[in-house]
Amino acid sequence: MKVIAFTNKKGGVGKTTTALATAAYLGQSGFSVLAVDMDPQMNFSLASGADLEQAGTFEFLKGEPIENCLQQCPKYKILAANRGLSRADKEFDQFGREHLLETALGPVKGYDYVILDTAPAMNVLTLNALTVADAVVICCQTDAFSLEGLDDIVENVNLAKKYYNPNLSIAGILLTRYNVRTKISEQAMDEFWDKAKDYGTRVFATPIRENVAIKESQMRKIDIFSYNATCNASEDYAAFTKELFTIVEGGKKKWPENSPKPSSKDTPRISIPRQPRKRTTARRR
Ligand SMILES: Nc1ncnc2c1ncn2[C@@H]1O[C@H](COP(=O)(O)OP(=O)(O)O)[C@@H](O)[C@H]1O
Ligand SMILES: [Mg+2]
Repeated sequence: MKVIAFTNKKGGVGKTTTALATAAYLGQSGFSVLAVDMDPQMNFSLASGADLEQAGTFEFLKGEPIENCLQQCPKYKILAANRGLSRADKEFDQFGREHLLETALGPVKGYDYVILDTAPAMNVLTLNALTVADAVVICCQTDAFSLEGLDDIVENVNLAKKYYNPNLSIAGILLTRYNVRTKISEQAMDEFWDKAKDYGTRVFATPIRENVAIKESQMRKIDIFSYNATCNASEDYAAFTKELFTIVEGGKKKWPENSPKPSSKDTPRISIPRQPRKRTTARRR
């Protein structure tokens, strides 16, 4: 079982979007995936169509057995965030608070991958994620501010590694919301690579292109591959997930070539009535 965390202290850089796509793609490729929403903003859980009134991450961290906290999504199981999770900083004030997730996951068996979506903060929940993760993916938007913020994130990851989790490694930096048409994106790619080399890591080969299908799929609570398997974002996230798989598995395992394709049964567990569309222009994907 490999645990992968998606992190950045900045919000809006594609952590949740990437965690959703990775969980879905691994799931539809035949792997058994547990997603844990570690962000009190609950975006991962919302986009997964989870019931936010049920027991989830918060109760699991408090010691509740996993089977009482799990929900089934089409392609993965989820420990959803609920309102309790926003109390985590106050609630979890005991010694050893960094190890709650590690302890809770200890007896959990039967998953190939655990996907952790984290909050845009180095709070107790993020620290719990870094304490148990094998690999961390740093999601970055392709701009100067993200580049500047990198030192700080990497320092935090290195501190987590030093004090809590010697196993932790940075799988790489993923560029999100990439605009292929601008020169700036190209230049930024080079600068991110320079930084990545300094940190002893890499920039993932496939940047994730800006694509309106991402927002549409999240509004409809459908994963990007079921929403539109051939859009740019699906292509990019599929390539990214395979690269991540190779890195996390140290090149020892082969990607399952005959992985089952998503079927029409892959609809969200909870269906939300569609809002009438006001726009008259054709949708771009
Ligand atoms: N590749 C993309 N193309 C278009 N919109 C995107 C893309 N990636 C993320 N977004 C949108 O950007 C916003 C922030 O992304 P999100 O994954 O929630 O970031 P974070 O979890 O880091 O705060 C969301 O509204 C999401 O739908
Ligand atoms: Mg998020």
